[in-house]
Amino acid sequence: MPIKSSHIKSIEHRVTEQDRSRRQGHEGGVLWFTGLPGSGKSTLAFDLEHVLFDKGKQVFVMDGDNLRHGLNSDLGFSPGDRAENIRRVGEVAALYAGAGMIAVTAFISPYRADRRGARQATGRQFHEIYLSASLEVCEGRDPKGHYKLARQGEIPDFTGVSAPYETPEKPELVIDTGTMSVAESLKVLEEYVEKVFGLKDE
Ligand SMILES: Nc1ncnc2c1ncn2[C@@H]1O[C@H](COP(=O)(O)OP(=O)(O)OP(=O)(O)O)[C@@H](O)[C@H]1O
Ligand SMILES: [Mg+2]
Repeated sequence: MPIKSSHIKSIEHRVTEQDRSRRQGHEGGVLWFTGLPGSGKSTLAFDLEHVLFDKGKQVFVMDGDNLRHGLNSDLGFSPGDRAENIRRVGEVAALYAGAGMIAVTAFISPYRADRRGARQATGRQFHEIYLSASLEVCEGRDPKGHYKLARQGEIPDFTGVSAPYETPEKPELVIDTGTMSVAESLKVLEEYVEKVFGLKDE
């Protein structure tokens, strides 16, 4: 992405990250879900949001479908548009993290380079979580009927069918949503969040 603005300086916040985490009781960061269509990103993201909210955490989900109605409504599914989609989400998620929140993102995000960019935007508290259900399982579920339409040639550039999915090389967490139940997967996520979003020592 070319930088078009010049003479722009950053301004330091006077409320520090530590100030924010002390008040919220936890650090901010990003839980970046990735996986094939139907692997369970939305299901787990919104369930996890509810569980964490009830435990008093500051949490917010960004879901692919929702953001494509607004912020990213000008983007399609070509590799270039997918990259821009993920770049914007990565930057917004980083802002949430900076605001001390736990941002949960539920995007297929099929390209490694795009996920790497999102990781760089947030830095230390970025957690790539791979929902590893296989194509066979996801296609068998087909919760939105999109695989069927993609096989019929009615949806172009469909991940897993006519567009690639690059599996994560070093995700912080893998959940086999192809064999585990939603409840079991949620438990793993809850424990992971408790482990990584403690209060940072000052
Ligand atoms: N362990 C699991 N975790 C999450 N979902 C599961 C699990 N086991 C079965 N499912 C089912 O798989 C489906 C996942 O659909 P969901 O819409 O969450 O996928 P998605 O990854 O958000 O897909 P898309 O990329 O198309 O938005 C749901 O019907 C859900 O009930
Ligand atoms: Mg979804």
